[in-house]
Amino acid sequence: MSNFVYLNNKYVNFKDAKIHIEDRGFQFSDSVYEVIKVLSKKLLDIDFHISRLKYSTNELNFNVKINKLHLKNIFLRLVKKNKLSNGIVYLQITRGVQSREHAYKKNLKPNIIIYTAKKKFNLPNNNYRGYKAITYPDIRWGRPDIKTTSLLANILAASEANKKGAYETILFKGKKITEASHSNVWIIKNNKVITHPANKEILKGVTRTILIKIINSLGLKLIEKEFSLKELFKSDEVFITSSGSFVSPIIQIDKIKINKGKIGPITKNLALSYYNNII
Ligand code: PDD
Repeated sequence: MSNFVYLNNKYVNFKDAKIHIEDRGFQFSDSVYEVIKVLSKKLLDIDFHISRLKYSTNELNFNVKINKLHLKNIFLRLVKKNKLSNGIVYLQITRGVQSREHAYKKNLKPNIIIYTAKKKFNLPNNNYRGYKAITYPDIRWGRPDIKTTSLLANILAASEANKKGAYETILFKGKKITEASHSNVWIIKNNKVITHPANKEILKGVTRTILIKIINSLGLKLIEKEFSLKELFKSDEVFITSSGSFVSPIIQIDKIKINKGKIGPITKNLALSYYNNII
């Protein structure tokens, strides 16, 4: 099957998409990224991804202007060229190429890489799954609100889950839960939906942003506040959100079953509402 990559204004074959060995994204993780869901050939929640990309590149002072329409056209062109129905568009912007030195020079020319990948999503249909998660310390750098590819701590956390046959790793800082290695975390207690506030300690998920609107429109009570490991384990329901996971139930954390190991009704309802909102 054809697989095209957008690389700095050109569409090239996957195997020909190469970057310089002194690209700062490669050497220093000096780069940002976005993962955009594609469902039935449609790009989802695109405006929020572009706003967050602007935020990330501004916070890191990248020499790049983000043009929403231009990017959207590239995404759509790739989806078409690669015949993608369900999956993701992956975009990465690096600061550029420079002889190796920690401090960056001004006015470097960013490298822009965009490609697509097929993916099966956990949607609220007959195959809707609840997942296991583990807990792990949040040892990430101090600015996880910026969507950078500096993901070593997330990788260690995710690999620990993998080793233990779990899908996700819920991160804790002291006694508080922040988020998970590649998603945001939510708990439900006495019909109240609780999630960590979108401050500098977590990534403000696009899926999270849309789901908050949905929760409010359903008249459910939402509280954005920190919650503890203890509250996590004593929750009625737990779920995660991300562009890769949509709204996915967590039914076991470490050795503890949540909602007796079954998908909870509020989680299922939110997943359905999210799905109905996009189709
Ligand atoms: N991960 N928190 C972290 C640490 C994440 O890596 C992600 C997304 C999210 C959810 O964000 P969104 O709803 O915008 O996808 C929260 C992506 C999918 C990834 O790294 O593959």
